[in-house]
Amino acid sequence: MDVGFIGAGHIARALGQGWSRPGLEDAPGLRYFDVSRSAAEATAQAMGADVAPDLLGLVERSELVIVAVRPQQVQDVLTETAPLLGPRALVSVAAGVPLADLRAALPDGARVGRVMPNVAAALGLGVFLFVPGTLGSRAAAVEELFARAGEVVALDEGDFDAATAVAGCMPGVLAALVHDLARAGERRGLEPDAARRLAVAGAHGAAAVLARESDPEAVIAAAATPGGMTAAAIAALEERGVAEALAVAVAAAAERAKELTPPRRTR
Ligand SMILES: NC(=O)c1ccc[n+]([C@@H]2O[C@H](COP(=O)([O-])OP(=O)(O)OC[C@H]3O[C@@H](n4cnc5c(N)ncnc54)[C@H](OP(=O)(O)O)[C@@H]3O)[C@@H](O)[C@H]2O)c1
Repeated sequence: MDVGFIGAGHIARALGQGWSRPGLEDAPGLRYFDVSRSAAEATAQAMGADVAPDLLGLVERSELVIVAVRPQQVQDVLTETAPLLGPRALVSVAAGVPLADLRAALPDGARVGRVMPNVAAALGLGVFLFVPGTLGSRAAAVEELFARAGEVVALDEGDFDAATAVAGCMPGVLAALVHDLARAGERRGLEPDAARRLAVAGAHGAAAVLARESDPEAVIAAAATPGGMTAAAIAALEERGVAEALAVAVAAAAERAKELTPPRRTR
């Protein structure tokens, strides 16, 4: 499949890297367009993709157009893209821009869906929340494409913001927790570099075990020997209300998605 990115920032780069990993069979053709030509070139160069000279040059050579600009920029991009799109499929990865707003900015019958990726896509370990919208017969091919860079979870758009808060935000949230874990190690006398390496390697291994078991409670049961160190750590977390803090974090992210929704403009 030929994929064209409008916007060549962080997430467009992560997706492109995920789809150009060595050994991936039938890798999609990737092309980037960005208002900043140098941004498009830098991203394309990272994976040997093409740079389109302009929006028309991108859209006309794409089977799937991915809108990867910031939420406030989506409407302008769609206004420019609408007359060029034709029967091509379009997917927006922007937070907070609902399907209804995407459809309102595109011609009737446009094939459009939403995907919420995360940057782990670059390693083939992404989580992709997928709302097929009006993709129709293209939905299966789009789903198959994203599945090449991680796990696709199809869901109702009503669940999109909460699901994004749990999965889409995970790389940043986990990084913040690992950062604080390293700082806690420093406070107990570890050298900063050693604390960082231990926390990062610890999180990496722990995430792999979680992925294999697919059951956090089973991992806790296996790791937290009664009366042992892990059990003491978990009890301290519970005492300090970490579950409540995470619930507040998920709620804050989901609320933020609503605030990101730009006022709708129609054609
Ligand atoms: N970063 C993530 O981890 C992540 C995860 C999931 C979803 N998302 C979503 O992905 C979208 C992009 O996020 P990002 O972090 O990748 O943003 P970013 O790094 O700022 O990249 C967006 C790029 O699009 C360019 N752009 C702006 N208007 C354009 C236009 N009309 N035509 C072509 N290019 C244009 C921007 O240029 P200027 O900087 O010059 O404006 C910038 O280079 C957002 O809507 C976000 O909600 C991001």
